[in-house]
Amino acid sequence: DKGGHKHFMAKEIAEQPSVLANSLGYYIKDGQVELPDGGIDFASIDRLTMVACGTAFYACLTAKYWFEQIARMPVEIDVASEFRYREPPISKGTAALFVSQSGETADTLAALRYCEGKADKILSVVNVPESSIARESDLALPILAGAEIGVASTKAFTCQLTVLAILAVKAAQDRGHMDAAQAAEALEKIKSVPALMNQALSLGERTNDVSKLLAEARDILFLGRGPMYALAHEGALKLKEISYIHAEAYASGELKHGPIALVDKHVPVIVMAPRDALFDKTISNMQEVMARGGKVLLITDKQGAKEAGDGVWETILMPEVDPFVAPILYAIPAQLIAYHTAVAKGTDVDQPRNLAKSVTVE
Ligand code: M6R
Repeated sequence: DKGGHKHFMAKEIAEQPSVLANSLGYYIKDGQVELPDGGIDFASIDRLTMVACGTAFYACLTAKYWFEQIARMPVEIDVASEFRYREPPISKGTAALFVSQSGETADTLAALRYCEGKADKILSVVNVPESSIARESDLALPILAGAEIGVASTKAFTCQLTVLAILAVKAAQDRGHMDAAQAAEALEKIKSVPALMNQALSLGERTNDVSKLLAEARDILFLGRGPMYALAHEGALKLKEISYIHAEAYASGELKHGPIALVDKHVPVIVMAPRDALFDKTISNMQEVMARGGKVLLITDKQGAKEAGDGVWETILMPEVDPFVAPILYAIPAQLIAYHTAVAKGTDVDQPRNLAKSVTVE
């Protein structure tokens, strides 16, 4: 049942504020993090290894910034298909965390099995609680997104981010980098996301207009810094999956080390720039792109657009948001752009060519 929407993907994008609220209610009680089944004490863990595929991997990439920044925890991340064959040494004190919507992805499951008996604790963040990955973990954390039908993952991604952000706050508190009041404050920021998402979802029409222009492009670049670099990857993956337009993500600061050679007036460059600590640096990279004739689509808030100045091709104005949770909110325009561009191109949005919802063979 598409609930009145044209596609499951549209329905699942629209559902995000309400499913996110489910996760928040499940994990946050009286301003404190509460994990099921005895949880985990991050004070007894020295490092975290996070492994996943596709969109779930980009959730890990985002979370790496959070765990490092607020919990001062060393984090290693890898895609499961590489991790499982490189026979990485797992030192004592390591927690291994696997993120998977389906809980059945073959490479992620194999990576988990590789860590059995080596890692101190095996955690998973899953949407399907009875899945293999959930069953084989010491602690399975459900994301409570509900069934996701569209091949392009949307609500599972933002729910994964939400659970990982909550977990990072717990790690910060366990490791003495936040007291109870600071943790409660960080959790309040996460709790503010569903309402902001509702505002961001009302940008549907605006992203629809922009997407009609993007649909003409052969290549599109996504740029971001910090956690927005992870989001840039997610935006590019979503776009290529369903619109079949070639899209790549780069860390803004890496641009001048090669990729800027790709820029000309035919290549739209999507810059994801909430006003965070790195905003000015991202904007200066954006100006380098514009100086070379690149067409910039800037996604930022009102003040950000003002500070960015003139010459931007198109702008999508987001609600103001605390930088900590900006990656969760900025997933919305990334998803809407992919969706509307695919619709404009007339592709099979829910069942894109060559792709399966769950990749159970390697
Ligand atoms: O079920 P999983 O989360 O383990 O799936 C991982 C990837 O196959 C999945 O995220 C894929 O990249 C999606 N189609 C992305 O939209």
